Amino acid sequence: MFRKNILCIGAGYVGGPTMAVIARHCPEYRVVVVDISHERIAQWNSGDLPIYEPGLAEIVSEVIGKNLFFSTDVDSHIEKADIIFVSVNTPTKTFGLGAGKAADLQFWEKTARQILKSSSTGKIVVEKSTLPVRTAAAIGRILDSNDQGVHFEVVSNPEFLAEGSAVRDLENPDRVLIGARQTESGQAALREIVEIYRHWVPEEKIVTSNVWSSELSKLVANAFLAQRVSSINTISALCEKTNADIEEVARAVGMDSRIGSKFLKAGVGFGGSCFKKDILNLTYIAENYGLFEVARYWEQVVQINSYQQRRFVNLIINNMFNTVAGKKIAVFGFSFKADTGDIRESPAICVCQALLEERAVLAIHDPKALEGANQELADYTGQFTLESDPYHAALGAHAIVVATDWAEFTTLDYERIYESMEKPAFVFDGRNLLDHQKLYEFGFSVHRIGRPSLSRI
Ligand code: UDX
Ligand code: UDX
Repeated sequence: MFRKNILCIGAGYVGGPTMAVIARHCPEYRVVVVDISHERIAQWNSGDLPIYEPGLAEIVSEVIGKNLFFSTDVDSHIEKADIIFVSVNTPTKTFGLGAGKAADLQFWEKTARQILKSSSTGKIVVEKSTLPVRTAAAIGRILDSNDQGVHFEVVSNPEFLAEGSAVRDLENPDRVLIGARQTESGQAALREIVEIYRHWVPEEKIVTSNVWSSELSKLVANAFLAQRVSSINTISALCEKTNADIEEVARAVGMDSRIGSKFLKAGVGFGGSCFKKDILNLTYIAENYGLFEVARYWEQVVQINSYQQRRFVNLIINNMFNTVAGKKIAVFGFSFKADTGDIRESPAICVCQALLEERAVLAIHDPKALEGANQELADYTGQFTLESDPYHAALGAHAIVVATDWAEFTTLDYERIYESMEKPAFVFDGRNLLDHQKLYEFGFSVHRIGRPSLSRI
């Protein structure tokens, strides 16, 4: 009764939301999402979703059991599928050749072999995971190694959604990019994928290209975004030395329509599963082709990000009389940005670890990421507490460190918080999020990124 069977392998941050939105807009397609993790699949099926994305639970409940299904039975669903999206994770390699830079493609290769093993008919295989340029060709070779004459067409369709706004980004994307081979079967596969998105994405926003341009575009988009953040963060360091104000500079610069105002927010640095991984991947590819100057250029974006995190830690320690040993510090925010429970590469990790190494006692508060914080900081158990109540986190603390830009931190009663803290009480705002003038008036000494301190000492 369904026109086509779509399968997605990998029920993570990308696969889950993407398939939910496709299912919602394409009722005539049957969409199944499979994952090797029984726990993840059980969560998707329970309604208590494994990831937090505003608006996602509503969409899933609308379509689950109708044309959206979650399962762990990978093999039988591969056999039934016409189109297979693959969104398994591609972390940075931690071993062997290219360790610390290259993408680890073992899950991808394993998945390709599984597709090959379980398919008696030809299928379109869609790369959703971010992959190094020319992966499609390698995957194609594995898939074509069968002797039954089954034909697979590998198409690249990178996902540009950002966490916290996944549903909005999927519903209303800036563009959908689809790369396919310039052959007859490649173009036929491309039309099939275009057909899916045409259900809700305007034609002019569906961009097609060759496979390699598509794979590279995804890496480059993330590299450019990260580069903007690192660029503004270098200027924040200069602002601190010169008494210029980074917010004013970013505003003035961003009003130039050629530059644009987005991704110019200085802070404690970028996090998330993609930026660092994709830039390192880009530098690895450049090195592989002997383009060492190109590799060094992009590497700097990642190095500046670490530098910015270290700078923030130094700002805290220097202003707290060069010692935080034994002092309680409230950390507001642990996720890598607001509106997500994801802590991958979160700058809060580095900041907390550095403070714990200095023997501070941390009270960590985050609306969605406390479980992740607990796991990440397991080596320091006993030296930190997890607080669901921000007021309790700040009680008796010497300082508040803002590490994530959660909107709810702006509406707390900071006068009450100030009264409950040790004096002198500090705020270190790593996201330039709070109303600093007001905090200063309540009695806080306020230190921030790229802006003059409002210090009482
Ligand atoms: C993934 C990739 O990590 C990233 O490179 C790409 O840019 C987007 O897709 P994400 O969805 O955030 O990102 O990853 P994650 O949340 O880790 O989900 C991957 C899922 O794949 C996990 O649930 C994992 O259990 C599953 N998986 C992994 C499989 O089902 N099979 C495997 O062999 C490996
Ligand atoms: C990013 C890309 O935006 C998305 O297109 C891609 O598919 C995956 O990677 P994501 O990692 O979810 O998405 O978050 P993003 O909103 O891009 O933010 C990344 C990091 O940069 C966060 O830690 C954020 O706080 C930080 N950031 C962003 C800044 O510090 N300043 C800014 O101006 C913007």
